[in-house]
Amino acid sequence: MPELDSAQRQTPDSLMLTGFWYRALPADRVHRNQLHKAMLLEIPLVIGRDRGGRPFVLRDACPHRGMPLHCGNFDGENVECSYHGWQFDAHNGQCQIIPSLTAEQNLKVDRIYAGSYPCEEQDGFVWVYIPEASAQGAGFAKREEAPEPAPQIEKFGETSNGKYNLAYLTADMPVSIDHGIIGLMDPAHGPFVHQAWWWRGRHSIHEKQKNFEPIPNGFRMSAHTPSSNSAPYKLLRLYAAADSITTTIDFVLPNLRREIIRAGRYWFSSLTTVTPITRTQCRIDVVAAWNIFRWLPFGPELLKFVFAKFVEQDRRTMELQAEGLQHNPHLMLIDDADRPAKWYFQLKAAHLEAKRTGAEMKHPMAGPVTLRWRS
Ligand code: FES
Ligand SMILES: [Fe+2]
Repeated sequence: MPELDSAQRQTPDSLMLTGFWYRALPADRVHRNQLHKAMLLEIPLVIGRDRGGRPFVLRDACPHRGMPLHCGNFDGENVECSYHGWQFDAHNGQCQIIPSLTAEQNLKVDRIYAGSYPCEEQDGFVWVYIPEASAQGAGFAKREEAPEPAPQIEKFGETSNGKYNLAYLTADMPVSIDHGIIGLMDPAHGPFVHQAWWWRGRHSIHEKQKNFEPIPNGFRMSAHTPSSNSAPYKLLRLYAAADSITTTIDFVLPNLRREIIRAGRYWFSSLTTVTPITRTQCRIDVVAAWNIFRWLPFGPELLKFVFAKFVEQDRRTMELQAEGLQHNPHLMLIDDADRPAKWYFQLKAAHLEAKRTGAEMKHPMAGPVTLRWRS
C-alpha cells in the first residue's frame, strides 16, 4: 500500500486565478436594455446587452461613491448611476456626463472610467475576462484587453449549416473552487454518487486503466474507447459499433474540462467549467454540443435529463461535503484515483510560480502516465 506522506495530505487553498476567461451568465438570461447582477471571483458585476444585442460587463460599483450600477438606468447605450446621475459608456466604462458640473468647471469627464471587463458571447454563455488584480480598470485607468478569445466548444463537420444541438445546465455548489474542480475530475465517486436503476450501481465497479499525457496548462486522458458504464457511451452505442467510439477528456487551467466523444460521423462535445463565485462558493456550468439524436424529438430532452440528474447528484454531494468541511478536517489525496486532483494543485502552483518569476511555466508532468483505479 502506498505510504501517505505529508505531501499527499493536501488542503485546497481555494485561491482564485485571475488572467483568465470565465463564464458569467447564460446568454438567454441576459436581456436587451436590462441590467443583471452577477458575482465572479468575489467581484460584483453588472451585465447587460446594448440595443444592438451586444453584451457588456461593468464592475457593479460607481467610481464616484460606490453605488451599485445595477440600481441605475440603462438607455441601451449608457448606464446612469442612480445616486448622482453620472453616465458611463456600457462597453468601455468611460464617463460621458457628470450632471452636477457647471459650464465653468472643466473637469475632464472622459478621463474617468467605471470598471469594465472584456466580454464575449460564446456557445450560449456570456464570458468575462478577469484581468490580473493589479490591472483593473476604473477610476482614471482604462481596462486591460484579453490576450486571447474566450474558449469555445469543439465542433466537427457540418457546423456551417448549424446541424448540431446545443444545451446547457448550471448548478451552484456550496464549496470552494478547488473542491468543485477536484470533484469534477474525481473518477472514484461515480458508483457511489451516480447510482440509478437505469444507469449503474456499485456492483458494476471494475478495474480501469487510463493513459494521461501533459498538454499546455493541463492534462489529457488520451483517446480511448470509453468505459462501458459511462453515460454518453451507452447512448452512443445505439448509433455506432462499440469499438469505433473514442473519447478524449482534457483538463486545462483555470477550470475547463473538455470531453469529446466521436463515433464515425457522430460526435458529442462538452465544455464544463467550475467558476469561483466567492471563496466558499462555486458554480458548475455544463455546455454540450452534439449531432446525434437530432432527428429524435426526445433526443435533447433525454440527454438533458441524464445530465441534469448527474449534476444534481454532484451538487447534493457537495452540499453535504460542505457540512463536513466546515470545521477544517484533515484531508488526503491517494494514488492513483486522486492523481488528477494532485496534478490540478501542481498545475495551479506552477502557474502561480511562473507568474511570480516571469519564467516559463514548468509543467508538473514529465511525460505520459498510466493510472489505475477501480470504479
Ligand atoms: S455614486 Fe454614482 S454618481 Fe455618485
Ligand atoms: Fe460526478
